[in-house]
Amino acid sequence: MIAFFRALLALAIALPKVIGSGRIDLNEAPWMVKSVSQNIEIPAKGIPGGIYSDLRHSGILTSDFYYRFNDQEYRWVSYENWTYSAEFVVDQDTLNHDFIVLDCKGVDTVSTIMINDQLVGETNNMFVRYSFDVKEFLKLGNNEIRIEFKSPVEHAKNMFQEQAETYVVPPECVAPQFQGECHANHIRKMQSSFSWDWGPAFPSMGIWQDIAIDAHNSAVLRYLYFNPTQNVNGDWDIPIDAIFEIDPVHPIVSGTLKVTFQGKTEEFQGTVLPSVEENKIGALSIVIQRDGVDVDLWWPNGYGDQVLYDLTVEFTDDQSMDTSSITRRVGFRTVEVVQAPVDQGRTFKFRVNGQDLFMKGSNWIPAHVLPELVTPDYTRNLLHSAKEAHMNMLRVWGGGIYESDVFYDLADEYGILIWQDFMFACSMYQATDEVLKSVQQEVRTQVRRLQTHPSIALWAGNNENEAALRGNWYGTDADFQHYKADYVKLYVDTVSSPSNADKSEEDGYIAQNPYSSIYGDTHYYNYNLDTWDYKIYPKTRFASEYGFQSFPSFEVLKPYSEPFDWNFYSDFVNNRQRHPGGNEEIPWQIHLHMELPENELDTRAGFEEFLYQAQVNQAESLRVETEHYRRMMTQYSNQTGEGLTMGTLYWQLNDIWPGASWTTLEHGGKWKISHYFAEQMFRDILISPIRNTDNNQLEVFVISDKLSDFPLSGTIIVEVKRWNNFNETFHMSQAIDAIPAMSVEKVISMDMNEILSNGGCHAGDPSEPGENKRLEYCLITTTLRDTDGNIISQGHVRPYPKDAIGLIVPEIAIQSVTKLGSCQDDYYDTCWSLDIGTDAIALFVWLEAEGLDGRFDANGFLMDSPNRRIQFFCQTPNVSESQVMSSLRVRSYKNSRVVSNQDSNTYDGQRRYHTMQELINHFRK
Ligand SMILES: *[C@@H]1O[C@H](CO)[C@@H](O)[C@H](O)[C@H]1NC(C)=O
Ligand SMILES: *[C@@H]1O[C@H](CO)[C@@H](O)[C@H](O)[C@H]1NC(C)=O
Ligand SMILES: *[C@@H]1O[C@H](CO)[C@@H](O)[C@H](O)[C@H]1NC(C)=O
Ligand SMILES: *[C@@H]1O[C@H](CO)[C@@H](O)[C@H](O)[C@H]1NC(C)=O
Repeated sequence: MIAFFRALLALAIALPKVIGSGRIDLNEAPWMVKSVSQNIEIPAKGIPGGIYSDLRHSGILTSDFYYRFNDQEYRWVSYENWTYSAEFVVDQDTLNHDFIVLDCKGVDTVSTIMINDQLVGETNNMFVRYSFDVKEFLKLGNNEIRIEFKSPVEHAKNMFQEQAETYVVPPECVAPQFQGECHANHIRKMQSSFSWDWGPAFPSMGIWQDIAIDAHNSAVLRYLYFNPTQNVNGDWDIPIDAIFEIDPVHPIVSGTLKVTFQGKTEEFQGTVLPSVEENKIGALSIVIQRDGVDVDLWWPNGYGDQVLYDLTVEFTDDQSMDTSSITRRVGFRTVEVVQAPVDQGRTFKFRVNGQDLFMKGSNWIPAHVLPELVTPDYTRNLLHSAKEAHMNMLRVWGGGIYESDVFYDLADEYGILIWQDFMFACSMYQATDEVLKSVQQEVRTQVRRLQTHPSIALWAGNNENEAALRGNWYGTDADFQHYKADYVKLYVDTVSSPSNADKSEEDGYIAQNPYSSIYGDTHYYNYNLDTWDYKIYPKTRFASEYGFQSFPSFEVLKPYSEPFDWNFYSDFVNNRQRHPGGNEEIPWQIHLHMELPENELDTRAGFEEFLYQAQVNQAESLRVETEHYRRMMTQYSNQTGEGLTMGTLYWQLNDIWPGASWTTLEHGGKWKISHYFAEQMFRDILISPIRNTDNNQLEVFVISDKLSDFPLSGTIIVEVKRWNNFNETFHMSQAIDAIPAMSVEKVISMDMNEILSNGGCHAGDPSEPGENKRLEYCLITTTLRDTDGNIISQGHVRPYPKDAIGLIVPEIAIQSVTKLGSCQDDYYDTCWSLDIGTDAIALFVWLEAEGLDGRFDANGFLMDSPNRRIQFFCQTPNVSESQVMSSLRVRSYKNSRVVSNQDSNTYDGQRRYHTMQELINHFRK
């Protein structure tokens, strides 16, 4: 597998430049990396980087990380120890400085650092910025730095074993279906790099953030820490802590802080005082007052502008006259988490700038398992898609990384509030003194780096760990007090999803029922019920995790697989499913509502149909659950205390790789059907019809989460059509003249029997038992239109394919493609108008522009009339009309004409199931 590999070019050493006064940027050094036991020595690809990227760059890893089974094939890399080394030149000027540090913004993870064969220090936490004094180790001329990494898999195992001598900190390993590595909870490293139920294990090593030698004669400004606040007069103050790295030999330094803000410069004379808690850290605190100065507020997406002001702080040492400076952006906003007592339980809601806002969004995981491969453009693409789906909050989940600076800059610009987890997830963690000290350093590093972003709304810890502990996920009950003590030490004393928040505190920090719907936030997953039925969902205060699995689209899977993989029963498809039982749950859920071609799942055509139906099922389930939460915004049950839902963050926004997962965006950024549905279900004005089976009523709700009344003289229309033609068989409309701020109004309540019989739907008698009552030959559409007839929002009642008796297989065609003069959003390169025609009612019409980046203004939609005009927003530059036309594909439920006839019936393995019934029987065992 491994050949001896000596670098061909890298030995001609290109020495790095000295930048500014005494800063040697080691990113630019000619780094080499080697493994003794594998006999490999290669040039590193670059810093920031990692061992997998280096080996791929050198051709030792021969194909894409995510191709077929490479996550298994390449696992050996993580079992090795790797040493990075580089030479660099130090001049006399640098050596003359009073103190010189090695500044490592991020080292992944367990390493020993040597300079000129002398021990500089050790690292064991990926999220800590390390600074080592190195003056005594440096010499004039050539120097060598060596960073010796230890296998993170081996280290985690050793830590586990050491801990297990007193008591075991579980879980002892991940589920076999994860196909991952054990003991991620025993190393302070991206937890999902050891695998998750949506992603592969690539436990990397390397220098994953900037590294430099930094020489100074004075305290050096490292961070600004501020949080603008309104004083009693309503004016804004910005109390600023300027945080310095100081020379321990000359800890006290006096100087001038020059602050430039809104075109005005102020000077403050002061002394940097050393921290009593932290070695080599000093601070100087000042307050900028904005008395009588008008400032524009920063608002979340959908509520106003995201105004940002530059603030520059420069420090000049009185004696050495050395200067250092930092520029940060300021957004004026207030954020509170309101947990006020109600009759039963407490509220849980976000109040921004004094206004209670309904939070709409999702959960963010790492955009790639190897952080060095996430480009700023890719991050922008994903966050832009979140913004376009009207999201105002994302939770950065605790099993990944504290994200890049670019991520938070974009969140500031797009108005996306960040619920920031500390990096702990779904496990028990050790709480030894050493771990706690390391976590403390981690928290300091990250809070100082990120706190000034106006997007940061909340810091939270312990993803599902409280629930794991109370629920005895890992058999911790036997020694509950022990684990509880660790829990309190780690999260309460040191850093603290779902939880009952204030209620947990009353219960001694481990709530009796962390999933209670009347306190705090909740996570809800259930795959064994009809996920298209809103009645199964809880009435929570804040849904911070919920969702459904689907698969990537065929277009996305294709480059990572071979034709013989394109079959539901292939090893490849099993490899892409990391959630135990996932490949039974998805077809089972599909079959409740659609006709899954269960006899053809081992053909390419059947597999493609499965991928499409899995995405439809996910999208519809997510829509039903999310609209349910939005209808609960103002409802409150006096019996149970449930309701008053003020936020929905579904699981999950983005993929780490092309595999089965709960995401609405694919690996690469393409929108799944569910993301198009998210764009609809998160609109500020939403029409949401339900069929209430308790009273057999059609109930139509109009929901607004706008902060002011919306003057709309419009119409709400209910239409009934039989599935087999476009003619309306029933029509009613009702005028509406305004939609109140932050409201959920039931605008129509009508007897279903009346609608069905007036619509000629041949309804069975609903009181009759059995299947008869399902025999309804109609589709019911509700639409909110403005006076000009434009659709504001549209919903359907039970357009359930299985109920679509009489649905004719539609013939759908793209009739024309026209280039538009301009795009509404200059994020896109060109925009196109498409005319689409169908000869029959078509369900879940799905357009794809193969090979082109971009999105449609709607997709996965229903066509209940012969024509529809859709826009395509294209990101791929300079495309021609014929390119757009030839890239377009369209399919709908019961119409898979786009599938070519090149079926690959090449699968020679065993089918596990021949029929859906066998599959279901298996699943229900
Ligand atoms: C890695 O280094 C450790 C010592 O730190 C050693 O025990 C282990 O055998 C090494 N692993 C390999 C694959 O060489
Ligand atoms: C529920 O209780 C609140 C206050 O206790 C009261 O104002 C309200 O009228 C009650 N609602 C119903 C439907 O009983
Ligand atoms: C639909 O309505 C049109 C126009 O009123 C009528 O000509 C046609 O026969 C109707 N089609 C069906 C199937 O009822
Ligand atoms: C697209 O066209 C513009 C103007 O003709 C040209 O400047 C640009 O380089 C082209 N971009 C690409 C990626 O071909």
